[in-house]
Amino acid sequence: MDARPDPEPCRDQDLGLFEVTKSDGAARIGRFYTRHGSFTTPALLPVVNPNILTIEPMEMWEEFGIEALITNSYVIWKNEELRESALEEGIHSLLNFPGAIVTDSGTFQSYVYGDVEVSPEEIVQFQREMGVDIGTMLDVFGRPDMTREQLEKAVDETAERAIPSLEMAGGTLLLNGPIQGGLHDDLRAQSAQIMGLAEGQDKGFAIHPIGGIVPLMEQQRYRELFRILLASRAALPPERPVHLFGCGHPMLFPMAIALGADLFDSAAYAIFARDDRILTPEGTVKLESLQEWTFTSKSLFGYTPDQVRSMDDKARCRILAQHNLEVTQAELSRCREAIRSGTIWELAEQRSHCSPQLRDAFIWIQDQLSEPDEGPVGESVLRLISSCDPLRDGGEPIGDDIEYRPHILHMHALLATRWRVPGSWWDSSTGNPKRVALVEGASPPWRHSILQEVMASLVEEPRTVVMIATPLGVIPFSLEDVSPWCHLVGPDDMWIGEYDDEEIQASLSEFGLSGIPVTRISPGEADESKADNFESVQDWLDRCSIVDKLAVLCSVHPLESCKITKGISVRRSRTKRVINVLSDGEHVLSPRLTDGGISLTLAGARRLNELHTSPPPKFGADFPDEVFSGIPRICIIDDAIPFVGKGRNVIHGYSLGADPHLIPGQPCLVVDSNGSLVAHGTSLSTALDVAFMRKGLAVKVREGAMKGV
Ligand code: GUN
Repeated sequence: MDARPDPEPCRDQDLGLFEVTKSDGAARIGRFYTRHGSFTTPALLPVVNPNILTIEPMEMWEEFGIEALITNSYVIWKNEELRESALEEGIHSLLNFPGAIVTDSGTFQSYVYGDVEVSPEEIVQFQREMGVDIGTMLDVFGRPDMTREQLEKAVDETAERAIPSLEMAGGTLLLNGPIQGGLHDDLRAQSAQIMGLAEGQDKGFAIHPIGGIVPLMEQQRYRELFRILLASRAALPPERPVHLFGCGHPMLFPMAIALGADLFDSAAYAIFARDDRILTPEGTVKLESLQEWTFTSKSLFGYTPDQVRSMDDKARCRILAQHNLEVTQAELSRCREAIRSGTIWELAEQRSHCSPQLRDAFIWIQDQLSEPDEGPVGESVLRLISSCDPLRDGGEPIGDDIEYRPHILHMHALLATRWRVPGSWWDSSTGNPKRVALVEGASPPWRHSILQEVMASLVEEPRTVVMIATPLGVIPFSLEDVSPWCHLVGPDDMWIGEYDDEEIQASLSEFGLSGIPVTRISPGEADESKADNFESVQDWLDRCSIVDKLAVLCSVHPLESCKITKGISVRRSRTKRVINVLSDGEHVLSPRLTDGGISLTLAGARRLNELHTSPPPKFGADFPDEVFSGIPRICIIDDAIPFVGKGRNVIHGYSLGADPHLIPGQPCLVVDSNGSLVAHGTSLSTALDVAFMRKGLAVKVREGAMKGV
């Protein structure tokens, strides 16, 4: 195999920027730009001790695909020989590593030994002079067992050192701005706020590590660890990566990533190896008792545990460290793949069973998701839910924890707030519903398994609201092809479930349907004699489906959608699914076959934009708190209009505002500052991302409104 080439330095304008290429809730895949290449996140920065190179940095680069590592500037500074070489030849040459080099500052040494002999300015200057890519200021370690007063002092002192450190870093050294605050949510949020806003003459911090958490990981206090992550994230700038200082056990990655961690660092791969301990994604195993490998790797392949045990200390430590690093890297690949496929939460769910402490932490997170605390943790959790695309293609495996998955909570919240009882019925009557027809014992696709029975019920009583009982609660029939409900994967008998009246009433009351008589319908009960009027009923069902999807997914008022859908006709596939919706002969939208969502056409986008009565969104403006605010918009600057208007994607940094109800993965409009349509597409961001991110795509444009201009 050819040697891996040296990385390309980033463009000057990209230095220190973070680009998110894919996200799922708080989890994100990103690229961070340095003068020694860009690196993909989530990533582990292996800790390299320049005095003990268990695995050579060049081997990490060439054999393990490591793009960035971390070493300690204070350890180098303390050792005269290392210090002089580092200053003379630069850190990259000293370590013989071509990728990005991150350094820590000596804070951890001050926690272990009580003090360090270097000043905050001196250690930043040293990191700059060695040619480090990302240095760390000398923060004050806040131990979890400190009093509130001591922790306040650690936060304040760290904050006081922030600006002098940024000034010393200048324009070339990127800097970590660590967050302290112990176990106090408010102190963590306060620290995040101050460090996030700190600006030197050239720039602010590039990355925010969360510090003071090593004792929690040593004691497996994961609930507190994740609480700190959530509290800090509530106030951290979204355009900067979040690093969990000292966290490197692969078992913790999925959950930490699902809650928004982008970077990890750890010497665990080497320290555990020295102690004959083997990392796996499910925990740690001791070499001493093994007869066979429980988790194999390229490094261990071909050896038995006995053979490894009989190696001399150096060879054994090396092979175990290689295995540990390989497993760590593989688990990160798995996490990134899970983000791409929308399954990071499921992976966290699986890993939560690896240890009782991790399970306890996961259950606490689930409690927060269903009933968020007041304060920064709750804020963070609500933001996590609302930044999930509620729809996804592919199966949704049923399991004990399913109802707490953030995208499902998001979908339920949208349904509970935005779904409305139809305003008129298929026979053109209006008025309140007379009954609910509850579909039971039928499995998706319900348009096949129960359509005849549904139609018959509607013919019998036009003022019927048709709902479906699913293992995830009751849903309107109009959303029968929407994920996650239509994609539930589990044993066949999960559809048989008979729900008692109390359960059903509780579920219906969330839709404003309490007190209305319920009739239950099951497959095979259709009365063929009542086949009259099926065409009118089918047309009405089609309209309901469009109105409800526009309401639930796009925040369009049902009365407005009713107007748009008044003269609609549909084109169906051979399997009778609606593929195009035409209004007055014009193709306005198509239901998405993969997840039941909506794809607009330019004509549809124009009609939805005409419904807006409020001005185009501007960052910092007051937003009226309305349930139906219309399809979300992003307002872009004039310079970007000629490009976006012709169909180019919207890039971060070119927007003036975004409606706060923008949902990643769902349709949005791109408008100019007068509110005129420039393009429409799929948002890849939340409004907060649009306000802060400086690199990457904000909207994947489907069509520009000025194509032919
Ligand atoms: N390494 C582990 N924890 C910390 C911390 O809180 N601050 C710094 N600078 N490094 C760390």
